[in-house]
Amino acid sequence: MFKSFAIFPIIATLSIPINALALPGSAAEGKKLHDANCVSCHNDSVYKRRDRAVKNLEGLTQQINACGHAGNATIGEPQANDLVKYLNETYYKFK
Ligand code: HEC
Repeated sequence: MFKSFAIFPIIATLSIPINALALPGSAAEGKKLHDANCVSCHNDSVYKRRDRAVKNLEGLTQQINACGHAGNATIGEPQANDLVKYLNETYYKFK
């Protein structure tokens, strides 16, 4: 019984939604990373199309990691944060 109570605060902390206003990272660094690693497969039209696949910040993070993997780019957490911040501020504007 005590074990399950001990786990609860951890789950509660993990499920706090990411707040776009307080996104970590640097959009300027994100732009540099983007221009260097991302435009070999697609330009920014995929972020602007009407039926774009990414619907929220979590989806954006997942897509960036999947794309980085596909492109053999090393995307650690700081790089992913920069890219999410850049793409969100410039194109997606999720709250
Ligand atoms: C190896 C090729 C490749 C590379 C490199 C690549 N992508 Fe992608 N990316 C894709 C493909 C394929 C799609 C899906 C396009 C489609 O559905 O028409 C995609 C889609 C996306 C989407 C979703 C667009 C939407 O519909 O909302 C995002 C965001 C994205 N890429 C970000 C990035 C970022 C950031 C990088 C650099 C770290 C990157 N991609 C590098 C292949 C790549």
